[in-house]
Amino acid sequence: MAEYVGIDLGTTLSGLAHLKPDGNPEIVPNADGERLTPSVVYFDAHEDVKLVGSAARDGGDPERTIFQIKRHMDDPEHVVKIDGKDWTPSEISALILAKLRRDCSRIVGDINEVVITVPANFNELARKCTIAAAEMAGMKVRRLVNEPTAAAVYYAHTQGVQGRVLVFDLGGGTLDVTILEVAGDQIRILTSEGARHLGGSNFDELLLDAYDDQYRKQVSAPLFNDERQRRRSLQAAEDAKKMLSKLQRVSDTIGNDTSGLARIDLSRDQFESLIKKMITRSLMLVEQALDSAKLRQSDIDHVVLVGGSTRIPKVKTMLEKFFGKQPKSCGNVDECVALGAALFAKKSARIQEVCNASYGTLAMVYNAATKEEKLMNSIVIPKNTPIPTSRTQLYQTSEDNERVIEVDITQGEDTDPKYVDVIGRITLEVPPNRPKGCEVAVTFSYDENQRVRALVVDKQSGRSREVALSYKGAGVLSDEELRRRSSHLKAMRIE
Ligand SMILES: Nc1ncnc2c1ncn2[C@@H]1O[C@H](COP(=O)(O)OP(=O)(O)OP(=O)(O)O)[C@@H](O)[C@H]1O
Ligand SMILES: [Mg+2]
Repeated sequence: MAEYVGIDLGTTLSGLAHLKPDGNPEIVPNADGERLTPSVVYFDAHEDVKLVGSAARDGGDPERTIFQIKRHMDDPEHVVKIDGKDWTPSEISALILAKLRRDCSRIVGDINEVVITVPANFNELARKCTIAAAEMAGMKVRRLVNEPTAAAVYYAHTQGVQGRVLVFDLGGGTLDVTILEVAGDQIRILTSEGARHLGGSNFDELLLDAYDDQYRKQVSAPLFNDERQRRRSLQAAEDAKKMLSKLQRVSDTIGNDTSGLARIDLSRDQFESLIKKMITRSLMLVEQALDSAKLRQSDIDHVVLVGGSTRIPKVKTMLEKFFGKQPKSCGNVDECVALGAALFAKKSARIQEVCNASYGTLAMVYNAATKEEKLMNSIVIPKNTPIPTSRTQLYQTSEDNERVIEVDITQGEDTDPKYVDVIGRITLEVPPNRPKGCEVAVTFSYDENQRVRALVVDKQSGRSREVALSYKGAGVLSDEELRRRSSHLKAMRIE
């Protein structure tokens, strides 16, 4: 049995690594002989089989092919309908995880427990859905770890990276910037900033637009008329992008059956100007992370590169210019998260993480200047508080004979309720006939998997109520449903 296993469930590529007896992590290839498995699922129309990986990505009916499901992990409304059945993001991710588990267990033995990585800015729902996906795939999650933390563990282990480290993780779908402190084998996370929808796939889309422009100029017709043609062209654009990381210019012949072929030319300079806005945005996120950790560029000892998109030369030169030192790259930038996760499976006790957002409640606050009460977001656990943590704040009832105390739980940094998310509500019945001003204690606990619980206690009556903050909705399954789907998945043909 493989004891220490880490999985990077990526937007575009997923990887599994295990810890060898000598304490070093190693990527375990899938049954197709690949080190990383494209996070793509194909639902076959003829046989009852689900293809996962390259076979799913490279062929088949686009309406039956699911790409980048991770981007929807936090969306309870998102379901994919195939043959009349609704598939949630968790279930589709479970198919990817089941493929990794089945394939890799042939090499390293049964895989029952894993560490799975998630973007640092994944919210509660997305984390819960990731755990559910692993359970459906027949694995227990020992811990969820933030991707940059896993990568930092790997860099510390293999390259002796020590001191204040900024991890710049630009993958297929997301950008994560994390600052952490590494001292010996102790790691303390200082801050994490993330941008959803900023990654290699966005660059591919921009390149595809440029291809379409050039094609239309030559052929006076669009490059693609249906989803299948669009996918093919997108793949060609991604291939060209990768070549431009090594070459100054690429030429390709692209087209479709209806309008014929055209020759396309693209230089690295042209590509760089296409992605310029996004590169600038990524640097703004670096500045935001420094700001949030109250640090300057010169306080950072090492900048480390993670994610396939950091192979783009412009990304490296931008960071080098900004920090005045060369960023470190381990070469296998798209594998280091899975490798770090395997290391983490054994090391977790030494890592101090922080919460990734502020949590609080909506409360009426009296403003002495205006003599008015105003509904405000009152933060109980501020962002970047080391976790696990538990904090209590006292409030008072605002009306006489208040029978039900309602506490809205928020996630977000602003004091204005308009700009935060209400992620839960606790209601607590209290005894009648009491004046306003009775004390209510609200305690938030934040566990190491970055999941939040809230406890409301009415001090006078001692009545209390506790909830685990989770979203109930289409994206989240009950435990019973989870068990049912897990046994269903066990019997499924996944290849
Ligand atoms: N040589 C290269 N040049 C440019 N981009 C590359 C290169 N190699 C890989 N990529 C891009 O890297 C991305 C995949 O990176 P990675 O595997 O780190 O992402 P991921 O883990 O799936 O995504 P995320 O971390 O956002 O969930 C793809 O968009 C791919 O096109
Ligand atoms: Mg990644």
